[in-house]
Amino acid sequence: MACPKSKTEDGFETHFGVNHLGHFLLTNLLLDRMKASAPARIVNVSSAVYFLGKIYFDDINLDRGYNRILAYGNSKLANILFTRELAKRLEGTGVTAYCLHPGVIDTELTRHLNSVALGIIGFLRVTFRRLIFKRPRQGAQTTIYCAVDEITAQESGLYYCACRSVEPLRKATDDVSAEKLWEFSEHLTNAHKFLPTAPASWRSNVPFSENEKKAWKTILFILLLLRCPAKVCCKLYLIQKQDLKPPFRFIHA
Ligand SMILES: NC(=O)c1ccc[n+]([C@@H]2O[C@H](COP(=O)([O-])OP(=O)(O)OC[C@H]3O[C@@H](n4cnc5c(N)ncnc54)[C@H](OP(=O)(O)O)[C@@H]3O)[C@@H](O)[C@H]2O)c1
Repeated sequence: MACPKSKTEDGFETHFGVNHLGHFLLTNLLLDRMKASAPARIVNVSSAVYFLGKIYFDDINLDRGYNRILAYGNSKLANILFTRELAKRLEGTGVTAYCLHPGVIDTELTRHLNSVALGIIGFLRVTFRRLIFKRPRQGAQTTIYCAVDEITAQESGLYYCACRSVEPLRKATDDVSAEKLWEFSEHLTNAHKFLPTAPASWRSNVPFSENEKKAWKTILFILLLLRCPAKVCCKLYLIQKQDLKPPFRFIHA
């Protein structure tokens, strides 16, 4: 998350390449085996940060302007759209697909953040650790719920948070974008060299403007400040608690 601007060996922006294309390709390579062993489930771990995301089909490497948090958000939005389209394509096969926000978990995910953001997170860790951050064991619960619970066996293509399905924002339920992302990813994982000649239909009309970047940075900064008040902490605490309540059944290793 929030890596400095960099590319994968294949030349893709790191977040998009690692968080989306890698999973897209791996899933597709395993699909025949999964269908043969149905019932089977595919679980994609997304993030609530998807709400900042947007898929720039004509600037997938974000060469026009790079912001590390937005790049992460784009890849997490891609996870949700991918899951949606995957579920559609898997209808009737016995293979189901899920994506989820696991919560805010105390992991190494923040390792690439800059020193100011790390300072704020460090302060929150020390002061509000038990209220804000889940331990990795708790953070795995929604993923396990999607992977094994009997209720979710009948569902596919949905987005989960705190062990229940929730309706994501419209940009994450846009079937046209989901299909377009699928076809785009298929081309990228087969022959990424075609990128400079991407068809006009893949080009988005809205540029990644400087104003847009500034606006998102301001929103992020305000959100970070607002996370401190007790009200937010209590809400997060309640969400953490709810994770461990029925219908979820705790899985022992
Ligand atoms: N932690 C949270 O609060 C949170 C919130 C929402 C969503 N998530 C999602 O949960 C998932 C797991 O994250 P986590 O919290 O467990 O973070 P983590 O402890 O940092 O684990 C991330 C994993 O990604 C691998 N990775 C990192 N950079 C990579 C790269 N450039 N190429 C290939 N692999 C790379 C790491 O491998 P190495 O260990 O080998 O470096 C590690 O296995 C992610 O999809 C994240 O978006 C986490």
